[in-house]
Amino acid sequence: MNNNYLDVLTNDHLLIEKALILVEKEAKKEEKMNVSMVKTLIEFLDDYGDKCHNMKEEKIYFPLLLERGLPPQGPIGVMLQEHQMEREYLDKLKESINDIEKSGKFITEFANLVAGYEELTKSHIWKENDILYPMGKHVITPEDETYLYNEFIKIESETAGAGAYERYVVQINTFEKQTGQRIDLLSAISTEIMTNMLDSIPVELSFVDADNRVRYFNKIYEKKIFTRTLSVIGRTVQQCHPQKSVHLVNQIIEEMKTGKRDQASFWINFESMFVHISYYAVRNEKGEYQGVVEMVQDVKPYRDLEGEKRLLD
Ligand SMILES: [Fe+2]
Ligand SMILES: [Fe+2]
Repeated sequence: MNNNYLDVLTNDHLLIEKALILVEKEAKKEEKMNVSMVKTLIEFLDDYGDKCHNMKEEKIYFPLLLERGLPPQGPIGVMLQEHQMEREYLDKLKESINDIEKSGKFITEFANLVAGYEELTKSHIWKENDILYPMGKHVITPEDETYLYNEFIKIESETAGAGAYERYVVQINTFEKQTGQRIDLLSAISTEIMTNMLDSIPVELSFVDADNRVRYFNKIYEKKIFTRTLSVIGRTVQQCHPQKSVHLVNQIIEEMKTGKRDQASFWINFESMFVHISYYAVRNEKGEYQGVVEMVQDVKPYRDLEGEKRLLD
């Protein structure tokens, strides 16, 4: 964990969200739900999410914001009410999971509680990340930041034990791996949207798989900095690069495969552009090489920027 107070809060949120997703997915399995895992996750949401994370806010962060002039009604008042509602849900969830454990039978009530708690907590986290924390940044001084960080760490060791966050990260990551439920946001997006999304950014992307074959590039129908047509798909990357740069491509891929390198970048003057070309190794959770993504963009417009632009044209 680094020592930034805001990272502490937002990292907590991320961990809570991961736990929520796991509970939600398990609850959908009904009779096949992994009861002991869900019980552990609910305990985490209570012991860490409420008694540690929410206390960082209620005992330290919110009082400081009030001291710095934020009104007691407004977002802080709403957040406090929502913490209370979360607690009520958690009490019912604990009761319900204990009933399931004892009887060995799934109850629909549990799924409803999970859905309600999840909706509340997700919107709560969103409001804090996107509204309250940015508001807080405007009133918090550099000294406050150090104070907040130190107090957060103190609360954590008092309520959940020193190093609790790191311990829970390991536990929740293990659960994700066990259930094969690594969070996958892309599966909720259609291939059409994904294609359009990757085509809409001013970057040319290509993907070469672990067998060195080109499998994807974006902007198929647009004019690109370096011409690329559909015939490259399935060809080896060595067949698609000018002879004079093949040795470099081979070296990059070789070093990425052995784990010696994760990225490589180059920049060149090309026509009227200043072209930045970079390669990033794509690895799975175990760190195994799955391929390389190439990113090409004309960075001249960025290099020419000066000052700031905060308004819409
Ligand atoms: Fe909160
Ligand atoms: Fe929070």
